[in-house]
Amino acid sequence: MIGRSEEYEKMFRIEQQLWWYRILHESVGRALCQQFGNRRDMVILDAGCGTGGMLDFLRRQGYTDLRGVDGSADAVAFCHERGLNASLLDLNDLAGYAPDQTYDAIVCNDVFCYFDDPALVRLLTELRRRLRPGGVLISNNNAFDVFRGQHDLAVGSTRRFVRADLERLFPMAGLRLRYTTYWSLLLSPLILLVRQWQRLQLRLGWRSPDEPTSDVYLPGNLVNETLYRIAHTEQKLISRTPFGSSLFSVSDPT
Ligand SMILES: C[S@@+](CC[C@H](N)C(=O)[O-])C[C@H]1O[C@@H](n2cnc3c(N)ncnc32)[C@H](O)[C@@H]1O
Repeated sequence: MIGRSEEYEKMFRIEQQLWWYRILHESVGRALCQQFGNRRDMVILDAGCGTGGMLDFLRRQGYTDLRGVDGSADAVAFCHERGLNASLLDLNDLAGYAPDQTYDAIVCNDVFCYFDDPALVRLLTELRRRLRPGGVLISNNNAFDVFRGQHDLAVGSTRRFVRADLERLFPMAGLRLRYTTYWSLLLSPLILLVRQWQRLQLRLGWRSPDEPTSDVYLPGNLVNETLYRIAHTEQKLISRTPFGSSLFSVSDPT
């Protein structure tokens, strides 16, 4: 994804409105409240913060000490445009970045897919080292290979996860998985249909794998609001679901 300026530009433009980001931001907000109650002064790092939608959401929720790092200069520039505290950093080099700085919470959304197992365990180990006592790592990741589509090609994602992957890798880094859920169960059939259609088009040569576009686009207001309502209602009614294109997790140091 790094280097694909148009993907960052799209993300920056619509991440505050698109149903998927809104649900994700609310899930992170809820996890923070469950851990820290009404506190708003914790030190929070968004590792792989993209164009800053998550940090901007948290700022609007009243959180005061927010920092972001990302390996894309485009992403960091968009964060700065939003007035956010963000730095350019390859997360493979996290150990050398402000090594004494620790955090109450680290958010790392949709970044693990760029790391193979050994690199991911190194990253997780460093994220865990940076957590203060009582701290949490909150991470959303793309799930289940069956959802692989041109979106994955567009954002350069190399892998998708299932819960067993996190159960295998997190303990290697000294992290305990406290909560996981896939989402959105109710919208899975629709997402699956779209992704399978994309795969078929690629296979038939109707779309070029060299010019993939991500699913980051804003549908009409009615469609966007309906998708948001469905996913939002699901999250209110069911705290854990067994299937979905994303896997949300909360973990802490063992
Ligand atoms: C799919 S985007 C997710 C962005 C953001 N976390 C969000 O939820 O909107 C993945 C982000 O990870 C960043 N990234 C990928 N590999 C990275 C690396 N090695 N170091 C730092 N950032 C990286 C990309 O630049 C991109 O902003």
